[in-house]
Amino acid sequence: MTVHFIGAGPGAPDLLTLRGRDLIAASPVCLYAGSLVPEAILNHCPDGARVVNTAPMDLEAIIAECETAHKAGYDIARLHSGDLSVWSAMGEQIRRLEALGIPYSVTPGVPSFAAAAASLGTELTLPGLAQSVILSRTPGRASSMPDGESLANFGATGATLALHLSIGNLSSVVSDLTPHYGADCPVAVVYRASWPDEKIIRATLATIEAKIDESISRTALILVGPVLGRKGFSESRLYATDYDRRYRPQTADSPWSEWQHGDD
Ligand SMILES: C[S@@+](CC[C@H](N)C(=O)[O-])C[C@H]1O[C@@H](n2cnc3c(N)ncnc32)[C@H](O)[C@@H]1O
Repeated sequence: MTVHFIGAGPGAPDLLTLRGRDLIAASPVCLYAGSLVPEAILNHCPDGARVVNTAPMDLEAIIAECETAHKAGYDIARLHSGDLSVWSAMGEQIRRLEALGIPYSVTPGVPSFAAAAASLGTELTLPGLAQSVILSRTPGRASSMPDGESLANFGATGATLALHLSIGNLSSVVSDLTPHYGADCPVAVVYRASWPDEKIIRATLATIEAKIDESISRTALILVGPVLGRKGFSESRLYATDYDRRYRPQTADSPWSEWQHGDD
């Protein structure tokens, strides 16, 4: 028996890995994390599966479900939205499972920041503008931020920011970041990326607050940085005509020629 943690993706039911789908189909128990996991993904559960929404449950109750299935020899598909590596609460569940000697596996999913970037048609690392993406959040009712992980510190890097769980703190996001990025820095808010009711709001740090109304709450990402403007960047050297590289040696003397024509 194994508890299979599966990243269920950002919302669209077909943004699920084949491995995730097959594990769901093979598991007689499915525990899924509330409304962010689309119902259509639950259709992959086998007939007669025990399907439980864990949104109203506490950690003890979730682990009790795992222990019951473990005793019965039933695999569990444990679904969380997006990918499991960020804000999934997988860590605390794994710690309990390890203490109980219950095996688990982890199958990644499409994270919401990647789905939002896809909806925007934007590469988040553009040469000359940003070569790093910071995935972060602002403090919430239940979560403070560790020392050093402030927006001011992240903003000082000039990197592209993908701020989760923060749409309710938009005004402090704007005031913390404006000194670093400038009031005219492009911002995009993507609400429910990949869901049928997805909305995209493009603005600048100066104008974004006025463009967000109460319909944009909770499931939204705030992306900040010059890459969102999609202009003023250089082309990468990778595909430059004159760039000497392993797969495209430019001359017979190129250090890559030998490699290309050699034995390996
Ligand atoms: C608890 S976190 C889960 C993050 C998830 N593990 C991931 O990989 O994206 C929930 C936050 O992720 C963001 N989020 C999740 N799904 C989203 C989507 N489809 N569109 C926009 N933001 C989303 C929102 O900022 C939301 O407040």
